[in-house]
Amino acid sequence: MNKNPVGVFDSGIGGLTVVKEIRKILPNENIVYLGDTARLPYGTKSVDAIIKFSLENTQFLISRGAKFIVIACYSSTSVALDIVQKNISVPVIGVIKPGVKRALEITKTGRVGVIGTSLTIYSGAYEKIFREIDDQCQVLGKACPLFVPLVEEGWLDHGATELIARSYLEPLKDDNIDTLLLGCTHFPLLMDVFKEIMDDINYVDASREVGLKLARELKRLGLEHPGKGGNLSIYLTDLSMNFKEIGERFLGEKMKNFSRVSIGGK
Ligand code: DGL
Repeated sequence: MNKNPVGVFDSGIGGLTVVKEIRKILPNENIVYLGDTARLPYGTKSVDAIIKFSLENTQFLISRGAKFIVIACYSSTSVALDIVQKNISVPVIGVIKPGVKRALEITKTGRVGVIGTSLTIYSGAYEKIFREIDDQCQVLGKACPLFVPLVEEGWLDHGATELIARSYLEPLKDDNIDTLLLGCTHFPLLMDVFKEIMDDINYVDASREVGLKLARELKRLGLEHPGKGGNLSIYLTDLSMNFKEIGERFLGEKMKNFSRVSIGGK
């Protein structure tokens, strides 16, 4: 048993989609969340920059007493998970492997599409994990960088979003995928648009799988919180104009306890 919080970080507030699922599965855990909104987006930046930011974010969460770290950002997980795991003494999980395992459980044809930021897709992280688990599976990656700003803008049900989504997803449709992995924090919010374009395939949003994996790991390591009713503290490196409105959309509840913090000189 351990009363310390679980630390979760993302490049911004998109990672609150992961926190939402963690809170459903583990309602008694305290969570400290860091959104690096001052340095967002991560998905268009270099590998070196994202490794540096990820280490700094992790150190911040550890300074707040984190007993376990969840990297909720797919771009960070793609390029920095191994390095963060080697550099810190608390356990760390990312968001890629849990989604890959789920996709492999449900695909019937073995043709799986993955969409994410440019960094995530071009890093090859998904292919590597798929190959480690199942080398027969066909993985078709597609970078979809425009989805992040569209979601940030709240254009979830907008004609322009549908047009862009068609242009990104139709090649995957033509490739006859039967499962699509949403490899970015922002993409679950566009599920309705994706289903308009491809309604006869499986979709994998790893958030729930990540929550389930965290629950198993806390139990295995004897780190579960003993009390009732976990708190959520949110730290952001910048408070943008509409962060609260967008954040609540991701989180599915009111953002009550938030403050600004400086990381890495920002
Ligand atoms: N959180 C990022 C991810 O999941 C998306 C936003 C960004 O590019 O920073 O890859």
